[in-house]
Amino acid sequence: MTEYHTVCKLADLKPNEGKTVAIGHRMVALFLIDGVVHAIDDTCPHMGASLSGGYFENNIVTCPWHAWRFRVTDGVWADNPRIKIGCHSVRVVGDDVQVQIASPIAEKTP
Ligand code: FES
Repeated sequence: MTEYHTVCKLADLKPNEGKTVAIGHRMVALFLIDGVVHAIDDTCPHMGASLSGGYFENNIVTCPWHAWRFRVTDGVWADNPRIKIGCHSVRVVGDDVQVQIASPIAEKTP
């Protein structure tokens, strides 16, 4: 099991806006939905855009470059659910947002 990493303060997150944080060389996008923080890989598997800068609505972030869409709650590609990007466990301890990297950058589901 990997450890949790403190990545920012809860107050640093705004509803309906993504935020990119780095855990080592891994870039992670955070999204705040109804007071719950979600974390997915920030790097779009298509051509590498930052997903945290995408359009965000109804739990879906749309990549700013070519509009691939990912659910921020589980990393599933909304237009092809057989493919998903990394989705990471998040916990809030005091004001600290902590992320546990738990999966590879991109993967196919069975
Ligand atoms: S880089 Fe994200 S859809 Fe092309």
